[in-house]
Amino acid sequence: MKQDALKAAVLISGTGSNLKALISAVAANALELDIVRVVSNRADAAGIHHAETAAIPVSVIRHTDYPDRQSHDAAVAETLKESRAELIILAGYMRILSEDFTREFEGRMINLHPSLLPLYKGLDTYNRVLQSGDDKTGASIHFVTAGLDSGPVISQVTIPVKPGDDADSLKERLGPQEHRLLTATVGLFSKREIDYRKDAVLYRGRVIKRPLKLQDDGGFS
Ligand code: GRF
Repeated sequence: MKQDALKAAVLISGTGSNLKALISAVAANALELDIVRVVSNRADAAGIHHAETAAIPVSVIRHTDYPDRQSHDAAVAETLKESRAELIILAGYMRILSEDFTREFEGRMINLHPSLLPLYKGLDTYNRVLQSGDDKTGASIHFVTAGLDSGPVISQVTIPVKPGDDADSLKERLGPQEHRLLTATVGLFSKREIDYRKDAVLYRGRVIKRPLKLQDDGGFS
């Protein structure tokens, strides 16, 4: 890995399949990224194993060990600062974040969300897509700001909703696309092609009017 590879920290709460996708892309030389730390708020998160296998330092910072959200977030922030991560990647980190925390990392913290934002912020996105009768859905990566799933959207991938789909089948089909989206989008960061301006995303120095769309060939349009 190059000396100046982008330093990133990944925050997880569970399976960590997106963390695994990043680790695999780095191992395959498809992504230039130095994952300097993984933070989990749960000691039993299966994803911790992926980090350990790749010899990435892991910090388990249990929210249940802190009296309130503020103090837990402060401990996580301290660890992230110590790690010297330039980019903070929330990949299945199932915590609502305090305003102080989002402000601290504004412009360099991104979140992966399983819907075409601004549609379906929050939880249970698959059932809400199905109930609405939408013929497509997808995943989004956005800069994290104080509002839940509300920061400027950087990139999206779309999949069709098919007859007979249920929440499980949608989730299963979206998963691999999320992995592609996260890897490709972090790749843009590692090439320093994405920047943040209050309420806007800059791609190669220009404000984008709509999210970058991931194509089948792995590029964006
Ligand atoms: C993904 O579906 C992501 O969109 C959501 O949480 C899930 C994380 O999955 N924020 P995993 O832990 O990376 O497997």
